[in-house]
Amino acid sequence: MREAVAAALVALALAAPAAASDPLSPERRAELREFLTQDCGSCHGLTRKGGLGSPLTPDALAGRSDADLALTIRDGVPGTPMPPWAPLLSDAEIAALVEMLRQGDDR
Ligand code: HEC
Repeated sequence: MREAVAAALVALALAAPAAASDPLSPERRAELREFLTQDCGSCHGLTRKGGLGSPLTPDALAGRSDADLALTIRDGVPGTPMPPWAPLLSDAEIAALVEMLRQGDDR
């Protein structure tokens, strides 16, 4: 698990220079969607219904504000395996992930 996360972090860091633009390019959004499925999904489930991490379905997050979710993703949840993503993702990218979580997994 840790190795997978570390590999994902490296992959993301390498992809970062192309991602600096804001608003996000369609390409970067597609990358983020894949990241959400594969990397966030490694803990939260490929369909976001939960695993090691809690479910991230629209229903499960209905009571949470966008700002609260963005903060959780940015800073992680101390004392749990949920890491802070601020070193890897810009605020705009985190906002895009929150938007995708709201839309749900449509695959
Ligand atoms: C290494 C495992 C792991 C990875 C990878 C991971 N998470 Fe988490 N995440 C957790 C755990 C565990 C929790 C639950 C913490 C708790 O018990 O409150 C959590 C909590 C959350 C929460 C808060 C949910 C709630 O209802 O309070 C959000 C939002 C979240 N994660 C989003 C993400 C996103 C987006 C990603 C990818 C960028 C991600 N997580 C990657 C383990 C992970």
